[in-house]
This record gives sequence, C-alpha cells and structure tokens, in this order.
Amino acid sequence: MGGLERVPTGIEGLDPLIEGGFPKGSLILLAGTPGTGKTVFGFKFLLHGASELGDPSLLVSFGEGKENIIENMAYHLNCSRDDLNCVEVLDFVTVKDTGIDSLMETIVEKIDSLNARRLVIDPFSAMAYAFKEKIEVRILVHIISKLIKQTGCTTILISETPLGSESLGAGAEEFVADGVIRLRRKIMDGRVFREMDIIKMRGTRLKRHRYLFTLERGFRVFPQFTFRRTWVKREFAPLPDIGSYYSSGSGDLDELLGGGWPRGSVNILEAEADVDLDAYRSIISITGLNFVTKGRRFLTYDPLRFGTEHLKEYLEPFVGEEEFNRLVRCLPTSPSEPRTLKEALSEASAYIFLSLDALTYNYGESQALRTLLSVIEGVRQKGGLILLGTLDGEPQPKHVRALSTIANIHLKVAEMDGVALIYGVKPKTGYYVMEVEPSKGFPELRLTPIL
Ligand SMILES: Nc1ncnc2c1ncn2[C@@H]1O[C@H](COP(=O)(O)OP(=O)(O)OP(=O)(O)O)[C@@H](O)[C@H]1O
Ligand SMILES: [Mg+2]
Repeated sequence: MGGLERVPTGIEGLDPLIEGGFPKGSLILLAGTPGTGKTVFGFKFLLHGASELGDPSLLVSFGEGKENIIENMAYHLNCSRDDLNCVEVLDFVTVKDTGIDSLMETIVEKIDSLNARRLVIDPFSAMAYAFKEKIEVRILVHIISKLIKQTGCTTILISETPLGSESLGAGAEEFVADGVIRLRRKIMDGRVFREMDIIKMRGTRLKRHRYLFTLERGFRVFPQFTFRRTWVKREFAPLPDIGSYYSSGSGDLDELLGGGWPRGSVNILEAEADVDLDAYRSIISITGLNFVTKGRRFLTYDPLRFGTEHLKEYLEPFVGEEEFNRLVRCLPTSPSEPRTLKEALSEASAYIFLSLDALTYNYGESQALRTLLSVIEGVRQKGGLILLGTLDGEPQPKHVRALSTIANIHLKVAEMDGVALIYGVKPKTGYYVMEVEPSKGFPELRLTPIL
C-alpha cells in the first residue's frame, strides 16, 4: 500500500483509486476552470475530516465570503448550515493591503490554535494578489509548502484556470505539489459531463488517470462499470405500473422515461459498439424481470447478443424454472426457419425485445421492416410494449433513423472513461451513469445524472 499514511478524502469513489486517500501531510493542487466543482471538492474534504474523523479543518478563502460559502455548500451538499459549523472558515475577501508576513501569521496562528489537520486555500491563485507587496506565486508556494511540512496538515491548494486553457496554475505549484488533480466540464451535443484527471499523486500507484464524476449530491467519482453476478437473496419485488406506463423495473429508469415505458409503445435502445454488453442487457432484462414476475409474457429475439443463457441468468433465479419456461420465449428456435419468428411474434406477448441487427441480417432489410411494422401495429393495438435493440456500427443506421421517427422513446447507451452512460435521444435528456448493484439480491439498475 505504498507505505504512506493516508487521509480519507470524503469524496465518494475517490479513495479506492488512490490507495485509500491523500498521503498524510501532502500538498494537493486542485485545478479547474470556473464552475467545475473545486469549492465543493475542497469543502467536502474539510467537512469529512471535521465531522467524521474529528480532524480540525480550516478553509482559507480568497474568493467568496464566509456567508456565501456556507449558504452555497449547504445547498449543494443538501444539508443545513449548522451541519457545516464544524469547518472553520477564514475569509480574506475584504482584506486589502495586508503585508504577506501579517497575513501568513494570521493563517499560521489559526492552524496552530485549531491544531488543524486539513487545510484548503480557495482559490490559491488569488492569494498572491492579496498582498501589499508583489510576490511571485513560486515563492508563495514554497512558503506554504514549508508551512505544511512543519504542521503536517494535509492541504489542498485550489487553482483557477482560465476557460479553454490547458495549464494548471502559474507553473510552479504543479511541480512542488505532491498531487495534482484537474477538474473539467465538457458539453457534448448539449449534454454536460464532468471529468477528473489525476495527473500525479506521489507515492501512489494509479491504475487509470481519467474518471467521470457528478456534482449530484455533493461530489461523486464513478467506478468502472462492472456487472457482478452475485445475487444473494434472489428476491425481486416488481415495481407497480403507474397510469398509462409499464414500469421498467428500475425506479431510476422509470424517472428518466417520464413514468415508465408507455403502454402500446415502440422504443429503441441503441448501444455504441464499445459498450459493455452487460449494461445493454441489463436494461432489457430488468424490464423483462418486472413483466415476468407479474405473470406476463416476455419474448426476445437477439440470437447473437442475448441468448437463452443470458435470459436464464437474469430471470430464472427470481421466477423459478417453471414460470420461466411458461412465460419467457427466446427466438428463434431454429434460425433457418423464418416462419418461426413470424408465428411467434403473432403470439400475444406483453413485452417483446427484438434485435434490429439480427432481423436485418437474417431476413434482409425489406422483409425485416415489413415484419416489424406488422408487429408494431399489433403491439400498439393490444397495448403491449416493444423494445428494439441495435448496436452502433452495424450496417443499418438508415433503419434506425426511420424507426426513430415512429418510436415513442429512443435511448442510447455509451461508454466513457470506463463508465456506462445512458441518455435519451428522443426525448432528449442529459447523461446518466448506469450501475448494476447486486446488494439487494437482484441486479438493481441505478442511474445517476451527471450534473
Ligand atoms: N449538487 C449540485 N447539483 C447541481 N449542480 C451543482 C451541484 N453542486 C454544484 N453545482 C454546480 O456546480 C457549480 C460549481 O460548484 P463549485 O462552486 O464547487 O465550482 P468552482 O469550481 O469552485 O467554481 P468557481 O471557479 O466559480 O469557484 C455551481 O455553480 C453549481 O451550478
Ligand atoms: Mg470556487
């Protein structure tokens, strides 16, 4: 474990990536453009230390006044202002024309009197301008670095970087610092996503450097998408259908869908080629599970990517073999027999999942489309549910575009920095991170918006 004593950061998801936390007594540079979450990160670090571990914690602010900070953080961290009292805030916002000696003295006195174990200077980049005399950032960094070595206080220096700039600070901090983290906010096709780069962390082995995070409920770094087949209890209580919607079996997905899958609807689930297929299958099968546990029929046709073995794995432990055999159909029973598909599709099934890619591949584009349109017609009339799946990069984007116009909902699954994302193409939504959590005893699908 690197041998260094660690300080848990209080940032959800970060500690496992850096061997348990920041090295004790280290100097961390946290850089980012405006609005990337630097203050939230720094404040959570202090709050975690102060409220959970009894570490006296000090925020030295050169940016916002104390009142402002407390109010904003209470709002962003979803807690009361009183919960934040344990963090000591020293603000120098209104301080002008103070000499460096007296300012540093005030800070050192505060650190000493509190016996502070955690310190954040926000933004450090403004500190150099707070003094009467001109002082180079480089020199200031060395002064602070010395101070930290003396006090053993784990410190975050927040550095504001201009928009569009790749630089981290004035140029000296990143070399002196033991750790450098950069936060970024990007917009892709009108959707926000946030990335954290761990540029360096002395004494720490980093497996990867770039991670996705959200400011939803504070600050959370996402682990890589994993699908653990460890259902302990094997119990699944189906979610109720509300109004004119079928529940997807996931409360979070229902919310993204605006209530659930509409009754009598046709929907598209598109996945990018490099997506973890377990993420893609989870969406399809959680809905299947919700249907089958209500005694409804579920039919699938995706011989290449969603075979009987997958269906069994997802559904059978929760419904039993008998119910599984009675309610679930996996087509085709014989790939060379096109009638099998047509006939099976004309059977009444509440929920049908079809792979557009397999349909096109096995039956040709025009017959596939004809078959589809007749199935869609039937499902719409009977008030069932149809989900059409397709993998990006397969030779049918024309198909998808045409069907997207008649589809009620079109979702897309993508991969970014090892994380599985889902978002609405129709209607358009922001990015949600997908996680499949086994701890409740079934593959629970959780979605977290990137805010
Ligand atoms: N829980 C949240 N949900 C949604 N948005 C949030 C949440 N918390 C923070 N934000 C947004 O993120 C922004 C950045 O937060 P924060 O103040 O930590 O950024 P910063 O990097 O310190 O910005 P600045 O460069 O202005 O100091 C806020 O302006 C707010 O719009
Ligand atoms: Mg800030």
